[in-house]
Amino acid sequence: MSELPEHVGRNRDFWNGIAAEYEADGHRNWATEEPSWGIWSVPESQLGVLPESAEGLDTIELGCGTGYVSAWLARRGARPVGIDNSEAQLATAKALQTEFGAEFPLLHGNAEAVPLPSASFDLAVSEYGASIWCDPYAWIPEAARLLRPGGRLTFLVNAPLLMLCAPDNDDEAAGERLLRPYFGMHRFEWSEDDSVEFHLPHGELIALLRANGLQVEELIEVRPPDGSTTRYPFVDLEWAQKWPCEEIWKARKAG
Ligand SMILES: C[S@@+](CC[C@H](N)C(=O)[O-])C[C@H]1O[C@@H](n2cnc3c(N)ncnc32)[C@H](O)[C@@H]1O
Repeated sequence: MSELPEHVGRNRDFWNGIAAEYEADGHRNWATEEPSWGIWSVPESQLGVLPESAEGLDTIELGCGTGYVSAWLARRGARPVGIDNSEAQLATAKALQTEFGAEFPLLHGNAEAVPLPSASFDLAVSEYGASIWCDPYAWIPEAARLLRPGGRLTFLVNAPLLMLCAPDNDDEAAGERLLRPYFGMHRFEWSEDDSVEFHLPHGELIALLRANGLQVEELIEVRPPDGSTTRYPFVDLEWAQKWPCEEIWKARKAG
């Protein structure tokens, strides 16, 4: 196997180490009737992330983790494939496939270099997968390569405003003060673990999508409803109801 980029190797170790903490979330999401998104579990009926019909679509989930987004797509008639960098996360995904009786291919690998032919998919999707753990200058061109003309890219990430207000220790909640520059934001590392994340300013992300033949169709800024809860400490509901902490991008490859 060729050597992994430094951040991919670090994130592999990180995700292999915490995969067990994600088994319960994975199970709940595989079991649910209605999909929900992000750290506040906002229902699909409020956000409209998935295509109305996925019948017959070839889909790839980039950083599929426990694989529930692909499971939702399979139930809607798609033919999903998932790729993930962590063998421990994929072991959970495989166990859930067996329990829920939905088999689809799961690849172990880096979503910045997917070992599949160009123009093989109608939809590429990532919920906190490649979308934050891969370098956008690598994974977005790769997603564009994998899509057929007219294919769609849908991904969920943290909003830039949250990344500007998040303390270096992401066990602490974001405050109401900008802690770092917006211009030039790209690679993020945290003080309490060895993982590496990536977040871009909006203008730079739009330019990158367009440079890869992807036209932005929608940006959904997630506003959690009253009473929403999360197990994650890095933002609280009062903050997330005033400013976007998560956002969902939808782009389409020129066709
Ligand atoms: C928060 S999980 C999101 C996946 C899914 N939505 C879930 O919650 O199970 C993040 C996933 O991204 C994967 N990941 C990180 N870097 C990756 C890379 N370079 N290529 C593929 N997957 C990657 C991790 O292994 C992890 O399973």
